[in-house]
Amino acid sequence: MNDFQINEKNYQGTYSRLVQHWNIDTSFLFLNHGSFGACLRKILGLQNEFRNQLEQQPLKFLTRDLPELYSFSKRKLSEFLNADNENIVFVHNATTGVNTILNSYPWQAGDEILITNHIYPACKNSVNYYRNKHKLLVKEVNIPFPIENEEITTELLLRETSVKTKLLLIDHISSATGLLFPIHQIVREFNRRKIDVLVDGAHAPGTVPLNLNELQASYYTGNCHKWLCTPKGSAFLYVRPDRQQHVFPLTISLTAIQQNRFEERFYWQGTEDPTPYLCVGDSIDYMKNLLEGGWPAIMKSNHELAIKGRQIICDTLEIPLPCPDNMLSNLASIPIQDTTSPIPVKFNQFDDLQENLFQNYQIELFVTYWPAHPKRLIRISPQLYNSEEQYLLLANILKELNISN
Ligand SMILES: Cc1ncc(COP(=O)(O)O)c(C=O)c1O
Repeated sequence: MNDFQINEKNYQGTYSRLVQHWNIDTSFLFLNHGSFGACLRKILGLQNEFRNQLEQQPLKFLTRDLPELYSFSKRKLSEFLNADNENIVFVHNATTGVNTILNSYPWQAGDEILITNHIYPACKNSVNYYRNKHKLLVKEVNIPFPIENEEITTELLLRETSVKTKLLLIDHISSATGLLFPIHQIVREFNRRKIDVLVDGAHAPGTVPLNLNELQASYYTGNCHKWLCTPKGSAFLYVRPDRQQHVFPLTISLTAIQQNRFEERFYWQGTEDPTPYLCVGDSIDYMKNLLEGGWPAIMKSNHELAIKGRQIICDTLEIPLPCPDNMLSNLASIPIQDTTSPIPVKFNQFDDLQENLFQNYQIELFVTYWPAHPKRLIRISPQLYNSEEQYLLLANILKELNISN
């Protein structure tokens, strides 16, 4: 490990002062906020308070107190998303949001779903599941990565539409490749052709400004537990009013009644822990105060660090930038040489590089196979607690490990 003899506390001083707001273990260099997010310390405390109240008086909390707490949090989220409150419901994660729409959609055999090669693997599994169930067609459009400009995306997608195309499922920000797709242009063009668009915005809330009223996508789902730093299991689903009639939760329970409004149907999905939802509004407010300039400043700061971090790594490893800066939000992926690791057969198996960094350097970095094994990408996803110094450290270690492309 030469210059990089790491001892337990070595990384502590590399974090920004804002790390105090998270429970991040600073003996590790944590460079993967993107995968699962990390909840704010203060908000975990709030969640615990809610949980205590719930368990002290279960009936009072779940029947008398919950409606107001739930409404408050949802209203705050709707304001943040620039969406009408009645068009938004809480779901536990973006995967549930996507599945809810695929399950509710009024499919007819032979209808076609358009996806891209950047789709999140869980969403591809659900598309294939509903394809088999309803005898649908699925067309996967190849969007290149590296990519020169965002214009190509809309063109490539439109070229593949036909009278059979009923739904486009597209990432706002793709997971493996970290691309910010030109979602406004895509939705506008597909709306014009009367093809529904389901936007998988898992990474979007808190990384790019959202205005769902203006966007007018048929469906949009996004996570709060990633970049809004709320407890795990908090996400939302937006449905445009003209599409709400057929949308029901995956779990039909006490409030999922046909004549109920969309918003009401999702309120009660069986007894569960509602506390992640209840923390969303406070998390938005708390985080806003971490940086002067509020949310726009947070988004700008993380975006600039992603660009800077990518530049440092690419310069050090002599890898060309794989896409222009304007196709990035807080995520930035870089192609590296093929892996020599075998194809992972289990969910929790890791690439050799990821494992080496974790075990020997205490660095948590996202390494993934894309478009397929053995092709590989590394991805950074800065949050306010990360720093430029950390990407310099990483770049030098990667260089020492002979990483290139
Ligand atoms: C683009 C995209 N879609 C969906 C998901 C799934 O998110 P969740 O596991 O919270 O449902 C992810 C997770 O990283 C993602 O990146």
